[in-house]
Amino acid sequence: MNLLADDELERSAVVANCRMNRERELVGSNGYEKEVGFNPLEFLRQRTASGRGTAWLDLCCSSGKALIQTAEVILAEGLQVAIVGVDLLGMFHRYDHDPMNLRLIEASLRTWRPDRSFDLIACVHGLHYVGDKLGLIARAASWLTGDGLFVASLDLHNVKIADGKPLGRRIAADLRRGGLEYDRRRRLVSCRGGRAVDLPYRYLGADDRAGPNYTGQPAVDSYYAMTGK
Ligand SMILES: C[S@@+](CC[C@H](N)C(=O)[O-])C[C@H]1O[C@@H](n2cnc3c(N)ncnc32)[C@H](O)[C@@H]1O
Repeated sequence: MNLLADDELERSAVVANCRMNRERELVGSNGYEKEVGFNPLEFLRQRTASGRGTAWLDLCCSSGKALIQTAEVILAEGLQVAIVGVDLLGMFHRYDHDPMNLRLIEASLRTWRPDRSFDLIACVHGLHYVGDKLGLIARAASWLTGDGLFVASLDLHNVKIADGKPLGRRIAADLRRGGLEYDRRRRLVSCRGGRAVDLPYRYLGADDRAGPNYTGQPAVDSYYAMTGK
């Protein structure tokens, strides 16, 4: 099979698909809360209650709508929260308020690295379009604070080994061994507490002809070789 390198993948029509949902809000029927099972704003509020500064990193943030809504409340309530959103396309909504508590960055998560740790890292329906999904999951886990939370939508059918078979149950077990959790019902991978995650897979490349996954939108299959660790 002819696999795409990640820089080729980022030019693919599947990743630039204009029909994908880029307008998700913080709460409501098209909200982050519905997708991850908790309200990120409440999570941040609780963290700041102890008097310490708190930070949220949103990977594949798209228009940044949910982040802007959160930043506006945070500014109004005078909370010490920094919000950073990263997306490949930079199609961000305008944001006129205090730029100190919100940064929307146009960059590929293949190469982007943060200069701080985060209490909350989310990636809602972003991994479906990323080449090295397991690599990004491992990096995100390492960017958490000691008691931080990482949560991301992940369809295990889009993670395959070289012969094309989905890794399914095996990858779920390896994620657990690496200190992560996989919720099959919600299709969410999560990690509590920053850690170095070493998964026994080497990334080979991506296939943008995978077709729709559970979201109904065309997604990207990511291929791996097992390293036998
Ligand atoms: C379906 S949207 C999800 C956006 C948002 N999290 C939401 O739930 O509404 C997927 C986003 O992932 C972004 N994306 C895909 N590959 C990326 C990469 N390698 N680096 C950064 N962003 C990427 C796309 O540009 C797109 O905006």
